Amino acid sequence: VLPLFPTETFELLMRHAENHTNAVLQGLHHSMADQAAGPVRELFTDISLFLLGSELSVDELVQRFFDALFPVVYNHLINPGPGEISPGYAECVRSSRRDVRPFGGAPGLLADQIARSGVSGKLLLQALHLGIEVINTTDHLQLSRECRRALLKMHYCPHCQGLTQSKPCMGYCLNVMRGCLASMAEIDAHWREFVRSLEGLSARMQGPQDLEQVLLGVHALLRDAVGHAQKSGPRLSAQVHKLCGTPSRKPTQLVSIQLSRSSSSTDSIALKAPVRPLGDSLAVRRRDFLSSMRHYRTYYGGLADQLCVSELVFGDGQSCWNGTDIVKSYTLRVVGNGIKAQSGNPEVKVKDADPVINQIIDKLKHINQLLQGKSIPKLGSLDQIETGSGDVEGRYSGDCDDEDGCGGSGGGDVKRKVSRVSKMSTDTLTR
Ligand SMILES: *[C@@H]1O[C@H](CO)[C@@H](O)[C@H](O)[C@H]1NC(C)=O
Ligand SMILES: *[C@@H]1O[C@H](CO)[C@@H](O)[C@H](O)[C@H]1NC(C)=O
Ligand SMILES: *[C@@H]1O[C@H](CO)[C@@H](O)[C@H](O)[C@H]1NC(C)=O
Repeated sequence: VLPLFPTETFELLMRHAENHTNAVLQGLHHSMADQAAGPVRELFTDISLFLLGSELSVDELVQRFFDALFPVVYNHLINPGPGEISPGYAECVRSSRRDVRPFGGAPGLLADQIARSGVSGKLLLQALHLGIEVINTTDHLQLSRECRRALLKMHYCPHCQGLTQSKPCMGYCLNVMRGCLASMAEIDAHWREFVRSLEGLSARMQGPQDLEQVLLGVHALLRDAVGHAQKSGPRLSAQVHKLCGTPSRKPTQLVSIQLSRSSSSTDSIALKAPVRPLGDSLAVRRRDFLSSMRHYRTYYGGLADQLCVSELVFGDGQSCWNGTDIVKSYTLRVVGNGIKAQSGNPEVKVKDADPVINQIIDKLKHINQLLQGKSIPKLGSLDQIETGSGDVEGRYSGDCDDEDGCGGSGGGDVKRKVSRVSKMSTDTLTR
């Protein structure tokens, strides 16, 4: 569930907003919609690029859209005549748009709404991407040699002595797992803060701050804009006439266009069907996603314990494996979570935090600052935290070294256990 959220939902949202917009234009004037489809497509492509981090000017992309729309509206609604206006005339109408202002305050309003909601929309997208990167990176994390050895000893060595039913002692398991996952536990505090900050951002995304609402409202704004142009038709006609002269038209082309269109009239009727309010379900998806994140808020801090609990679920509770013998209880000190706590770990030697994890933590710290509004995103700064994910390829192969004191040729069992560890983290996150 988690990894699918950002791109899919975002693309769906864009397609919907574009469809609504086309449907409205279709409803206003059937043949106009076909000609406006190109500019509408370009508008939504530009908005996507802007939201995904390109440095387009929102004002400029919105103005360009209305420039391109004006000749179409002029041709069909303001000064309809027999046939299309010539390309040269259309170009003149286009370039007159910023002076003639046929759409009233609509262009400024749309640019303002997109810019305003875009700030939080962009941030939400980037944050969700980072969230997935964190999960993905920790899921593919390479275990240290010391950890692999400790896991091997814990899981495999009882078998060497024919003690196939024995389970490790809880304290022993905790020491091993907390040692192995010490770096991951360092993510805990930052991950909790990340989830909290995301919720804060999401709560602020209301009304004009809500990108979804703004995008799904483009069609209504456009209806008003075109309505405004229609109402001031005579004035616009006169002004365009003054600037561009008498419209030159090409009647022959019209016939062929109309003929070719009549064949696809059923499609057009389908397009006119009322716009379904899918916007709600997208907002619901965002809330669902965040609540599943909230559910895994404490994931990194509790992972070692969780793994040991499930490890020991079938143990008899009477006796356990302490690493050398079957005993009643484990007598050594049980260490806490995190890198610092590992200095006293009797089972796994842990030196420093994994550099890949440190990188992830730096990215979380940065995005948390942005999410909390403590620093203003500089141009390109969000892109930087997106790159250099530092994914480590390859997993532990499960070989059993002789020096690990395990003997035998197996290693398959540990391999299974280790892959269960990483599978478990996947299951837990995607359940
Ligand atoms: C948008 O409209 C096209 C054609 O009318 C349709 O194929 C597509 O599924 C629609 N997309 C959405 C997201 O509704
Ligand atoms: C395990 O138990 C044996 C026998 O009681 C003991 O000698 C050994 O020190 C114990 N090892 C650990 C790590 O507790
Ligand atoms: C997760 O990481 C793997 C390898 O590191 C990569 O191939 C995959 O595309 C990543 N998945 C996501 C959703 O980022």
